[in-house]
Order: sequence, then structure tokens, then C-alpha cells
Amino acid sequence: MADPAFVQHDAKGEVHVLRLANPPVNTLRTEVRAGLLAGLNAAKAAGAKAVVLIGSGRMFSAGAEMTEFGKPRQPPSLTEVFDAIETFPGIVVAAIHGSALGGGLELALACHARLASPGAQVGLPEVKRGFVPGAGGTQRLPRLIGPEAAAKIIVSGDPVPAEQAVKLGFVDAIIEGDLEAGAVAWARANIGRTFTLARDRTDRISGQDPAAYDAVVAGLLKRTRGQESPKGCAEAVRASFTMPFEEGLAKERELFQTLVSGEQSKALRHIFFGEREVLRIPGMPADAKPLPVERLVVIGGGTMGGGIAMSAANFGVPVTIVETSDEALAKGLARCHANWERTVASGRLSQAEYEKRKALLTGSTDFEGTVAKADLVIEAVFENMEVKKEVFARLDKAARPGVVLASNTSTLSIDEIASATTRPELVLGMHFFSPANVMRLLENVRGAKSSWTAIATATEFGKRIGKLPVLVGNCDGFVGNRMTGKRTPQVEKLLLEGCLPQDIDRVMEGYGMAMGPLATGDLAGLDIGAAVRKARGTVAPIADAIVAQGRFGQKTGKGWYMYDEKRNRIPDPEVERIILEVAEKMQVRRRKISDEEILDRLLLPMVNEGARILEEGIAYRPIDIDVIFVNGFGWPAFRGGPMFWADTQGLKTVRDKLRRYAEATNDANLKPAALIEKLAAEGGTFAGMGR
Ligand code: NAI
Repeated sequence: MADPAFVQHDAKGEVHVLRLANPPVNTLRTEVRAGLLAGLNAAKAAGAKAVVLIGSGRMFSAGAEMTEFGKPRQPPSLTEVFDAIETFPGIVVAAIHGSALGGGLELALACHARLASPGAQVGLPEVKRGFVPGAGGTQRLPRLIGPEAAAKIIVSGDPVPAEQAVKLGFVDAIIEGDLEAGAVAWARANIGRTFTLARDRTDRISGQDPAAYDAVVAGLLKRTRGQESPKGCAEAVRASFTMPFEEGLAKERELFQTLVSGEQSKALRHIFFGEREVLRIPGMPADAKPLPVERLVVIGGGTMGGGIAMSAANFGVPVTIVETSDEALAKGLARCHANWERTVASGRLSQAEYEKRKALLTGSTDFEGTVAKADLVIEAVFENMEVKKEVFARLDKAARPGVVLASNTSTLSIDEIASATTRPELVLGMHFFSPANVMRLLENVRGAKSSWTAIATATEFGKRIGKLPVLVGNCDGFVGNRMTGKRTPQVEKLLLEGCLPQDIDRVMEGYGMAMGPLATGDLAGLDIGAAVRKARGTVAPIADAIVAQGRFGQKTGKGWYMYDEKRNRIPDPEVERIILEVAEKMQVRRRKISDEEILDRLLLPMVNEGARILEEGIAYRPIDIDVIFVNGFGWPAFRGGPMFWADTQGLKTVRDKLRRYAEATNDANLKPAALIEKLAAEGGTFAGMGR
């Protein structure tokens, strides 16, 4: 019999039920695989004609147990379980509720038939963890729905609703009502019927034209920027129609092994686990309770206030924007509405859902009256300390006692803002990223006096509105902007010493960044950086010369690049002329700079600042920094973030290069941080800190 702790076995006459019982998501850990195998053998011995596999709790199965990766494999393998299913003298039916993902779906694909509850999700997300499905998914799915449709699912890794899976042909029926009872009845009615197993089907693969397949795949791979697993997935699916089943399985296995032990998959798993880890805040007492939030009030309906308010309404939270005038309010609300309308027009939001969101978002110019009703306030007014302090003093008087007051400031001191109130323990930063309704990252900034209640409230509320909250300490720029701030001067120096904008962006995009730093500058507006430099009294001769020509970026049609009518960027000889002119004036002899040096000089200063941030306790752990960069700064997840990257280079190498660049460029900022010196001397890594 199956081990009832992991797989429950119920005999219902000729139909037996095997229920996965490994909460919360029924991963296929060793005990579950053993339980399934034992259960199938016991059902066979008892003369069962049909077996229903079903999940208990939230879902059918989320797939393999990732914590077992990289450890010696314990038998039985999934393949042995699948052999037992495929040679079962009767039918084995998978009954899916919630989701069947990865190995969970592969288990279902090995069955004779698949049933699902309405709205269940099925998919093979392995590509997102850096490898290919490893238990036959790339061979069985194409045999059920054709290689091109299978490649779309496997290369994207996105789940498919069960209803669509029925249309495509890999789910046999939707069962309304009680799934287990329905599945048992369905199995009983189908006893004796002949099913062709996926492995034996040839009808969907036999006519496949390889050239047509390659064309579809080329489209799918266009946006994968140096990530290996999508290519591996496409190659594995290709084997489904160019090789016999067993050879295809061997090909899949080989690709799986290579990818799963590679750097990219390690990086993706580092981020996958990291995104869960950052929510476990070190030192947070177990009894720290978030305050309930029924109504959010956002002060300021500009770019950020509007985006924050939309995020709340998107997740069903009633929210009111407070503005200073009717005009500003109308403009702010109209921007939110227009944004949603674009989503409706693109087909990604239903009209009914839009109406619901719109009704949740209200506006007012009555500051005191509105704030009095708030359970949480997020301020997003102009970035000016005097203005912020005035607003917080007013908030303190108007808000009910006990209500948390948060600021979306990106640079100002939370402690100074809090000092304008009589409740500094309830003041903290909630630093959203632009566009706030889209970006997942939320840096929650802990002031010197912020209480655990305030922190728990901001964390919980952030999660509720779809964000990934990472708790950071109070300093100029917090974590993300403080680190990228160290990259900007290097961009200027590289331009001076020999690079053109397109060289720098090519290297960074080749590394996998969504967009290079200069193209990003053009998108955000170069006048913003110029204003910051002016306010801080710093200069950047090349950037200043570009802005002096009225080249503010995309909004003026020209910046580091020129742009065609479709906003494609084009290298501009005029920019090259300006750069050469400044270099000449400054008597810099330009030289050819290698791609490796470009990458090092942009990434190493960030790593160095990251190390200082860890020394100061501004970030709790290296993983917090990595998660921040992947979720808020377009850092490719398959590179694992800046601190992970540094570990892959080796901290001795990082230290030596930093020392060398500090000397060569006479830049004290590039001197290795004490933490890097220490770890390099010990042969340590960031990942190993605190372990
Ligand atoms: P914005 O200029 O677009 O919006 C500010 C809005 O606040 C304006 O509509 C203004 O009318 C309103 N306002 C000013 N004083 C007010 C008061 N006393 N009561 C009610 N409303 C008032 O500015 P943006 O870009 O939205 O920035 C807001 C805050 O968010 C700043 O602290 C900024 O540093 C921060 N931030 C901005 C990011 C960005 O990318 N724009 C990213 C992250 C944070």
C-alpha cells in the first residue's frame, strides 16, 4: 500500500483513488513518488480496473521538489512511476484542480486521460527555473497537441487554463462540481475503453514540417536575450518529431542535466527561493501583526500617486487620491482611467473588471476629511523635504491615532520626515518604482523609530496589492538607486575614454538587461539627471553637453540616440561628434575598450556599493539586493542579481579588479569595500555569509 502520510489510497470498487497528500502544493518528493508506485502496484494486485490520481488541498501538484535538486537522486524516479501507469492493466486518470505544473503536469500526461475542474491551470514552467521539463513533458505534450502548440507552452512556461487545454487536446474533459466524485464516475464509465497513451500517439507529429517548426520557434526565442533554457526547450520539443519516443526522452534528459547544473539555472533558482526568503524578515517578532487596511489614501495624484492608487484598485482595495486642486485631481484620475482603457483595448482587461476598478478609485481635495477615514496613508507629493514635512505634520493631525503614514520618497530621509509627526513609530517609507502599477518591487524603508507593526502593515499591504516588498534601511537612495547611482559616473567615464552609447548598451543588453543604461536614460528623460546634478553641484561633461543641445531623450526625439517614427533608436553621428569634442577638450586620449571592461566597470561599482550596504545593515542579506535588482531594475533573473554575479566571478577576482580600476581611474569609490576585502581574504562568498 501507499504510505498514507504522502499518498492516500481509497478503493471504491473497481475504481481506486490515489490522493497526493504533501501539502501545501503536493510536490513530487521521494515519498510521494514511492507512494504512487506502491499505490499503483497495490491497485493492480487488487484487480482495480481504473485508478484516479488526484491532489488534496490547494492543487493537483506543483511538480518536482526543488530542494531535492543537486542532491543524490533517491529512487523511485518519476520515470518508474510513469512506467507503472503506462503498463497498468486498466486506465489511469488524472483529476486536476488548482494547478498541475511541471512534473505535476508530466505525471498527468503519462496517464490515459486527464480531467480538470473549471479554471484549473496546467503548464510546464521549467524554462523559468532555467531547465527543460525532465520527465517526458517535451515528448508527450507534442504527441497530444502538435509540436508547434507544445513549443509555445513549453518555451514560454506560462500556464494554460484547463478550458484552453481541452480545446488544444491535452485535457479530455472539464468536470463541474465535486472533482473526485466526478472523476471516479467518469473513470467507471470508461472502464474497458481503449485509450492511446501519449507516448504511442503519432497522428499529431507525423506531418510536422521541420522548417515550419523552426520558423515558429524563431519567433518564440526572439525576446529571450541570452537565456539558454528556452533554446533547450525548443530543441527538446523538436526531438519529438525527429526521433522515436525513447530517443526523444534521452535527448530531453541530456538537455535537462546540462541545463539544471548550469550557472543560469542556479541563478534562477536563487531568485525563485530568494523571492520567498525576502518576506521572512530577520528579527520580526512572531506577534507583530499587520493592521487591517479597508481604505487606502494616497496623497498626490501625479505619476507615482496615480500608479500606486491603480495598484490598490487592481487588487480590490478602495482607494482615494487627495490632490491640491480640482484640475490636478481630474488630471490624475483621467490618467489612471486612460491607462486602464488602454489595457481594455488590448484585450487584457474586461470592461466589467475595468468598471469595478474605476469604482474603487475615488478622488478628493478635502485633505483632512479624507485622511480621517484612512487605514493607511501613502504620500507621493513633490520630492522636497519642506513640502513633505508640512504634509506629514498635517497627516499626523488628520489621521486617526494608530494609522500608519508612509512616504514614497526616493531620496529623502524617512527619519526627518517622521520627525514632523507625533507618531514616528508609525512612519516608514514605501518606495514604489515607476510605473508603479506595473513594477513588482516595493522597497519598504525602515526609519530609526519605525515599529514592527508599521513594518508588518507595509509588508502585508504590499503583498496584498501584488508587490514584492523588501525591507531596507534608511539612507540616500536606499538600496536600488544607491547602487545604480555608482554606475552612472562610470558610464560617463567610459564615454570619455573610448566608448559610444551603443557600445555600452550592446554589452549590457548582451548580458541580458532589459535595456541598456543610455537607452533607459533616453526613455526616462535626460533632463532629470541634469537637474539632480545641478542640485547636487556635480558635473558630467559629456551628459551635460548632450543636454545642452536640447537632447532630453525620447520626449524630444533625440538624446543619446536619434529615434525614428516607431521609436527605434539609431546611433547618431552628432552624439559621437559631441563626445569626441569633449574628450579632446579634456585632453583624454581615447582607446578601444573591451566588452569585458565595459561590463566590469558598470557592474563592479554596484557590487562594491552593495557590499557597503550590507556592512551598514541597509540590506539584511545579499539575496535582498539580488531580488531588488531583478524585480525593479530589469536585471535578468537568469543572471541572479549583482551579488550572485559577484560570487560567480569569485570575490578575489572582484577585489583585484576593483583595486586595479580604483588605481587606474583614480576613483576612491572603486576601492574594494571592507566586506569584499574580508570575504576575499577568507575565500568566502556573499551567498555563504551568515551560514
Ligand atoms: P509628480 O510631480 O508627478 O506628482 C506629485 C503630485 O503631488 C502632483 O500632482 C501635485 O499636485 C501633488 N501634490 C503636491 N503637494 C500636495 C499636497 N500637499 N497634497 C496633495 N497633493 C499634492 O511626482 P511623482 O513623480 O509622482 O513623484 C512623487 C514622489 O514619488 C516623490 O517623492 C518622488 O521622489 C517619488 N518617486 C518618484 C519616482 C518616479 O519615477 N517618478 C519613483 C519612485 C518614487
